[in-house]
Amino acid sequence: MPGRASSTGPRHLTHIHDLSVEDMVHLLDSAERYVAAAAGKPALDVAHDKILSTTFFEPSTRTRLSFEAAMARLGGRTISASEPGALSVSKGETLSDTIRMVSSYSDVIVLRHSWEGSARLAARLSRVPVINAGDGAGQHPTQTLVDLYTIRRNLGRIEGNRVAIVGDLKYGRTVHSLADALARFHSEIVLVAPESLQLPADTRSRLEAAGGKISTANALEEVIGDVDVLYMTRIQKERFADLEEYRKVKGTYALDAATLSRAKKSTIVLHPLPRVDEVATDVDSMPQAKYFEQAAAGVPVRMAVLGWCLGIDPKEAGR
Ligand code: NCD
Repeated sequence: MPGRASSTGPRHLTHIHDLSVEDMVHLLDSAERYVAAAAGKPALDVAHDKILSTTFFEPSTRTRLSFEAAMARLGGRTISASEPGALSVSKGETLSDTIRMVSSYSDVIVLRHSWEGSARLAARLSRVPVINAGDGAGQHPTQTLVDLYTIRRNLGRIEGNRVAIVGDLKYGRTVHSLADALARFHSEIVLVAPESLQLPADTRSRLEAAGGKISTANALEEVIGDVDVLYMTRIQKERFADLEEYRKVKGTYALDAATLSRAKKSTIVLHPLPRVDEVATDVDSMPQAKYFEQAAAGVPVRMAVLGWCLGIDPKEAGR
């Protein structure tokens, strides 16, 4: 069974590849069922006996709060552990100890950590499901489900769209898991990045092997007139060993209302947020801007993910 270390073990979500295309579609369908309950009507108590632990070793606003809101909307409770300072002591030991302990206190763990591969390590140590909320420059699978959900709601389907992914394709974990998923939906992906921040070659080969149609572009202007989805991302300043390198690429791509007016009316603009300077605020009021809707989708989508990990039937969502 995808996402399980063994046929009887906990159902983890550490990498988007833990999910088959059918699993992803199932989770998006479940999220649709949870839309009303995500707003509190009906109030559910399907997780009344469950505890979620959120263990965040890197900053988070949307991911953490939407997971906590999702658990509350399912009727469950959340406990939290966040000690970014502890990382400087000993990353490996800190993480292992935390996971061993927390897995005996809760029924599901959401982990964010600066270490690539941290969620997989945690899954090996944990007796309960581990959900990766971002592992360094690795993966962010629940953000991908949020992205796919927003694409499907606005464009009616995921397959066959032309998606430009713009910005930091080297370090952006949302990019890595989204591109992995889109390739399996046979989407056309245009990678728009400065040379130094292009998608790693091995990731690109993996996408092509999975059925993705991949091309590259240097400038936003080259693609803006002919895309269905414009997925903007922040340059991941915290991943640069040399800040001089960051300064060289900072501000490379900036979408403003004037540039977006050259896109099709049906193009949607997504961004996992937070934004720095890559999407100007004058875009916010344009009909193509869907990034706040995307952030809001975090609650029903994460209700579906928590339900999937905890074995809750989405039919209990009241719809
Ligand atoms: C992203 C992340 O943490 O990877 N944020 C999020 O979870 N929505 C994107 C980012 O930090 O740039």
